[in-house]
Amino acid sequence: MASSIVSIINGRPAHGPAAGRVDSPNPSRLADVVAEVTLADAATFAAACAAAKQAQQLWADIPAPVRGRTVAAMSRIVEANKESLARLVTRELGKPYAEALGEVQEIIDTCDFFLGEGRRLYGQTVPSEMPDKQLFTFRVPVGTAAVVTAGNFPVAVPSWYLVPALVTGNTVVWKPAEYAAASAMALFELLQAAGLPEGVLNIVFADGPATFGGLEQALAAGTLDKIGFTGSTAVGARIGELAGRYLQSPCLELGGKNPMVVTPNADLRLAVEGALFSGFGTAGQRCTSLGTVIVHESVHDEFLAQFGAAASAAAVGDPAAEVLYGPMLDQKFASRFEEYLGWIQPHHKILGSSAVGRIGHASPRAGFIGDPGAGLFYHPTIVDGVQADDALFQQETFGPIVGVTTYTGFADAIALANAPGYGLSASIYTNDPREVFGFRRGVSAGMLSVNNSTSGAEAHLPFGGNGKSGNGSRQSGIWVLDQFTRWQAMNWDYSGHLQKAQMDVTEIAADLDFRLKA
Ligand code: UN1
Repeated sequence: MASSIVSIINGRPAHGPAAGRVDSPNPSRLADVVAEVTLADAATFAAACAAAKQAQQLWADIPAPVRGRTVAAMSRIVEANKESLARLVTRELGKPYAEALGEVQEIIDTCDFFLGEGRRLYGQTVPSEMPDKQLFTFRVPVGTAAVVTAGNFPVAVPSWYLVPALVTGNTVVWKPAEYAAASAMALFELLQAAGLPEGVLNIVFADGPATFGGLEQALAAGTLDKIGFTGSTAVGARIGELAGRYLQSPCLELGGKNPMVVTPNADLRLAVEGALFSGFGTAGQRCTSLGTVIVHESVHDEFLAQFGAAASAAAVGDPAAEVLYGPMLDQKFASRFEEYLGWIQPHHKILGSSAVGRIGHASPRAGFIGDPGAGLFYHPTIVDGVQADDALFQQETFGPIVGVTTYTGFADAIALANAPGYGLSASIYTNDPREVFGFRRGVSAGMLSVNNSTSGAEAHLPFGGNGKSGNGSRQSGIWVLDQFTRWQAMNWDYSGHLQKAQMDVTEIAADLDFRLKA
């Protein structure tokens, strides 16, 4: 049965003029509509920011340890609902159930990390250069944040923003992807159940233009202080431009063309396992999904043979079963993936399945689990012979496709890893410490993996990208605190007279000409 979903502002359903309706279907059984979503217009989005702004001071006035207890309650409530939330994620986004459970665990990990921050939020006491004067630093919330998220991680990645933003005293307007509406609403309800006051967390469903318009209106009205955005490089650039006009720096987590370097001394079995998981897990629709394998020419043939065989043997299909991957997230991603498949050229060699494109009765895949005609299922595609000037090498290709290219000298491997200009995640398989640290020094990605795939960030390390993958902002762990708080410095002079910094400072005379006798 489909649930009917509308935006919630100030704890109440938003009754602004609807800007249309969309369905969120189950991508592995398109006839199963999971949610019918009413979309808000730009003015409603801006009204949500105004409501959040109104609620912010009261929320910031609640002692931080009490806000931390609310995060502890969120963790317990999500944990108690782990299986039902994971089942919903599997139904609405087609993510295999084991991965969906991992996704929910990532919310719990995030809450567990930040619940203690309520009792920390440390500032510093700092000595002054003058007597009877004390210096301090405080972390203060930025104010109201708009958080715009994608649907490939419909609940875990949003929690990376929502939880630290809330614990540090900000209020939030969350705009999830429409095709992930039911999962987002479920997380919203679980977080609300922890007792958040009205207006502290608001959820708005809107399409791209209405969201952009709403952000613009709220920035102009002074009711929005921070934008967090996970999505494409193109949209991230537009958001950065908009925020910059208001002297704000958004937190941007954008795409990736994540390389995996396989060196001559690598454990090939391990590298193949890593390439299979990060290339095809979540049907290749993670920001951290593997883009191109850059394999040393001496081990290329053996790697390719093993990788091709592993992809051909992998279970694809019904995400409720034990599969490597299920369907594309949504029709929009399926259509775009078909465009990427058009980038395959005659100089490429294809491996990994019996065909390329949509799996169906006319284009079957051996061992497919379930009914391929019912959903948005695609053959896994390995493209060997990719060259540095191919679109397939240069651009992110969200979906179950992995390129393979070769290198000769280690410096070429580093140059190829950086060439597309993204910088989210990169991995190397090697047993040579010089290569490990050469890779670390040479590759510009925010996250590096050694003898591990490009996916699998843990919730307490910094996560984010450089270049086309982001503006250097970092989520997760202690590093995200700098996104949602600002440092305030305070000095307190209790000497009873004006002491001027740099001028009224006692000097101790030193004999700078002093030298030891030869
Ligand atoms: C994303 O796709 O936006 O490392 C984030 C991983 C996950 C997070 C992915 N823990 O693949």
